[in-house]
Amino acid sequence: MRINNKEVLSFDDVILEPQYSELVTRKSIDTSVNLNYSDKNLEFKIPIISSPMSTVTEAHMSNAMISQGGLGIIHRYNTIEFQSKLLGYVNHRDYRAAAIGATGDYKERLSELVKNDLSVVCIDIAHGDHILMEKAIEFIRSQYPHLFVIAGNVATGHAYKRLALAGAHAVRTSVGSGSICTTRIQTGHGIPTFQAILDCCEARKEHLESGNDLSAPYIIADGGIKNSGDVVKSLAAGADFVMLGSMLSGTRETPGKVIIQDGKKVKRYNGMASKTAQKNWKGTYNSIEGVASYVSYKGTTSKVLNEIMSNVRSGMSYSGANTLKELIDNAVFRRQTTSSHVEGNPHIFNRNK
Ligand code: IMP
Repeated sequence: MRINNKEVLSFDDVILEPQYSELVTRKSIDTSVNLNYSDKNLEFKIPIISSPMSTVTEAHMSNAMISQGGLGIIHRYNTIEFQSKLLGYVNHRDYRAAAIGATGDYKERLSELVKNDLSVVCIDIAHGDHILMEKAIEFIRSQYPHLFVIAGNVATGHAYKRLALAGAHAVRTSVGSGSICTTRIQTGHGIPTFQAILDCCEARKEHLESGNDLSAPYIIADGGIKNSGDVVKSLAAGADFVMLGSMLSGTRETPGKVIIQDGKKVKRYNGMASKTAQKNWKGTYNSIEGVASYVSYKGTTSKVLNEIMSNVRSGMSYSGANTLKELIDNAVFRRQTTSSHVEGNPHIFNRNK
């Protein structure tokens, strides 16, 4: 047993210091990211990916994300035939993205997805710092060298480096942070997303400085991103993309029907390790590490993304940043007390009580 005394930080433990700005209009702010791999270059106007969850991303969501300049990853909690069919509905082909596992039928699933012009594969397992993950990455890189490989989830710099050496192009970071997640309660394990980004960025720096000629994987902050402030903090801390579940849940393009509950429109948002999601997917359940819930209906994905990105641009302007690279260069994070965090929320309502 070892004790690492270094504290772990969550989004709400830090705040960005406003910086001197010369930006006259927010419209000029560039939020684009390019993914370079092999001889390819995938361009994104916004650094947002929708999560491969059964109540978040199927074909409609993928198309909505792509049309706004982001990416949607079709979930794997379905039959191979159904997932391949969904992928076939995704409009432009360079951005066809889908998830697979690292055991069972994953090779067969991958082979069918590739027949439907898969470009980006996400090896989607809860504990990505695992030998099965390394083996799956190595298999894909050797058999399908044209694919962009997203691996994860991991929560430490060591894990990031292992997946980098195995050949991942991008790594999803954080364990146990998701809005629908009970992993930390059930297993005692996890690391907050903000800390995982910092640690993986540090590992990326070391990996690059170590002189090996392997490229350093992109970092996708995933789990617990609950508002656009957290999106800005993730990008300022060094993440290349944010992956969103709850913030996109309840939108028109998510799978599932709109239901009326107490006169309000709602949709389902289920953790993939919740009893409900597991029963829907495989008819049985074990090791429950998530919850299932209803969320308010939010309207179209484009409306939600526009709101998020408008706030992200505003955030970049507070850091005097024209680009995401400048945001990282200019960002100064301060630790904040609980009272500072409380003060950051509207407090007029409490006074009238
Ligand atoms: P959110 O954006 O905070 O809602 O988190 C979404 C992320 O939580 C997903 O992208 C997954 O990484 C993770 N996740 C999804 N389902 C579960 C679950 O049932 N338990 C734990 N984590 C989950």
